[in-house]
Order: sequence, then C-alpha cells, then structure tokens
Amino acid sequence: MKIVVLGAAAGGGLPQWNCGCQNCEMARHGQLPRMTQSSVAVSVTGARWAVLNASPDIRQQLDVVTVMHPGALRGTPIQSVVLTNGDIDHVAGLLTLREKTPFTVYATSDGLDLLAQNPVFGVLDAELVARRPIALDTVFEPIDGLHVTPFAVPGKVPLFMEDDDLDLQAMGEQTVGLKLQTAEKTAYYIPGCATVPDWLRHQLSDGDMILFDGTVWENDEMQQTGTGQKTGARMGHIAMAGADGSLARLAHLEGRKVYIHINNTNPVLRPDSPERAEVESAGWIIAQDGMELTP
Ligand code: MLT
Ligand code: MN
Ligand code: ZN
Repeated sequence: MKIVVLGAAAGGGLPQWNCGCQNCEMARHGQLPRMTQSSVAVSVTGARWAVLNASPDIRQQLDVVTVMHPGALRGTPIQSVVLTNGDIDHVAGLLTLREKTPFTVYATSDGLDLLAQNPVFGVLDAELVARRPIALDTVFEPIDGLHVTPFAVPGKVPLFMEDDDLDLQAMGEQTVGLKLQTAEKTAYYIPGCATVPDWLRHQLSDGDMILFDGTVWENDEMQQTGTGQKTGARMGHIAMAGADGSLARLAHLEGRKVYIHINNTNPVLRPDSPERAEVESAGWIIAQDGMELTP
C-alpha cells in the first residue's frame, strides 16, 4: 500500500487567508512549510489511486504530486474519491474534478444526500461520475486490491448543517473512519474524530499505520492563540494533549502513527516547539504535504 499526503492541514490550510497567528505568519515568511487542506491518495500498484476526501486545494495538489498527472491526452490515475464526511474541506474539491473524466464517488448515504441536495455538484456529469453508497462496517473496493471498511467514529454533522439538536459526538454515517486493507497491510484514515472510546482504541490496534485527527493540541487552543472562541470539542475534534487526548488514548498502538488534518494554530507544526518534541517522542509523525507513506 502506498499513501501520499495531498494536504496535511485542517480546514483553512496554512497559512489561512484571514489569519495572522504565529504559524500562519511563519508559513508566509518561509519559516514553516505551507500546507493545503485535508486529503490523501492511496494506491496498491502506484498506477490507479483512490483519493480520500476532495480538498478545495485539489487542483494544486494534483499539479504538484506528479503521480497524479494525467499520463494521456485526457485522463487521470484517480479511479475513485471516497468521502469521510461532508465538510467543506472534504467535498469542495469535487467541483474542481468536473471536465468530463470518469471516476467514482463513494460516500455514505448521508454524504450522497448532501451532494444531491446541493445542485452545484450536478456539474459532475452523472454519465461519467458515478455516485456509489457505502455502508457502515461493509467492505468496498474503490481500486482493485484495496479493501476499505467505513466505520462510524464520534463526530458531528458539517458546520453548515448544524442545528439546535447538534450532537457533538454522534455515531452514525455523518463522520466515518476508513480501514484500508491490502493483502499485506492495514492502515486507518481518520481525519475527524471527537473522542477515542475504548472500542476505538482496540479497533485500531491491528493497524500497521494510522493517520489520525491532529486538528488541535489543546481543546482551548483557538482561545489561547486569540484566533477564536471555538474549542476542539465544539468543532468535533479531539485534542492531542490531556488525559482524554489522542496522544494518551492511542499510546498503546504499535503501528506507525501520523497526525493529519492539523489546524494552523497547532504548536506541533513548529519544529522547535515543546509540543512537537512531545508528540515525536511518543512516536508520532506530523504529516506534511507531499509526504509518501508506506504502511
Ligand atoms: C472541520 O474539520 O471541523 C471542518 O473542516 C471545519 C470547516 O468546515 O471549516
Ligand atoms: Mn476539516
Ligand atoms: Zn493561523
């Protein structure tokens, strides 16, 4: 299995257009690598790829990652796009993939409903771009030889779908993790997750590699950095730090661990920060755009 990080950042990217925080300013001045928004590509042979989440930055991502180039007068190595939720940073890139090249979109029926309710996605010609429902805990094969099982993880509906009944840790089709399996390897891709219950700790223990929600270091990080009021929990993202944080809750995992979907405020992005030293000494890798991972 080959995994390429197309975009390592959470929604907003690094730098974020309206943010003057320390990390965003460092990225503007070449002191931190820029990061585009949340997406990875997965392949078995290196010829055909499944893109997991379609980032608003996908046009740029497919340009700089050369294995994504068309390789023909018209075409793409992308066979499928798999969605883990309906957030803007995971679906907006579908609009860039118009232009009459076939591929298949896989999403839960919640995800497909969201596409169906927004007529702008009709720009993807239904004759060429099939939309296929995936069911929780049921294997599908978005590229030959890659068996993918979506499973519910605690999470909320997309920001633009929030209403008075909002459940921040709902379990259902609105937020899924993906178990990725080839004949040799198992990996997990979970870019959004609100908590790590005991069942999830156990479930992930068979992974050779896990790519996990690294949005915030601390729950109140946006308040601490003066960038906003929302906590990680309110955004549906578990913090790394603390007794209930992902660092502690996933410390038992023996597979390689990669933080992805990292918010621009997160201090782990700075190579000389104590937080970076802490996650690295716990064995975690901080994803970067273009990183090639082999589980
Ligand atoms: C998130 O991961 O919380 C979302 O991408 C936020 C957003 O839609 O901006
Ligand atoms: Mn996001
Ligand atoms: Zn910022």
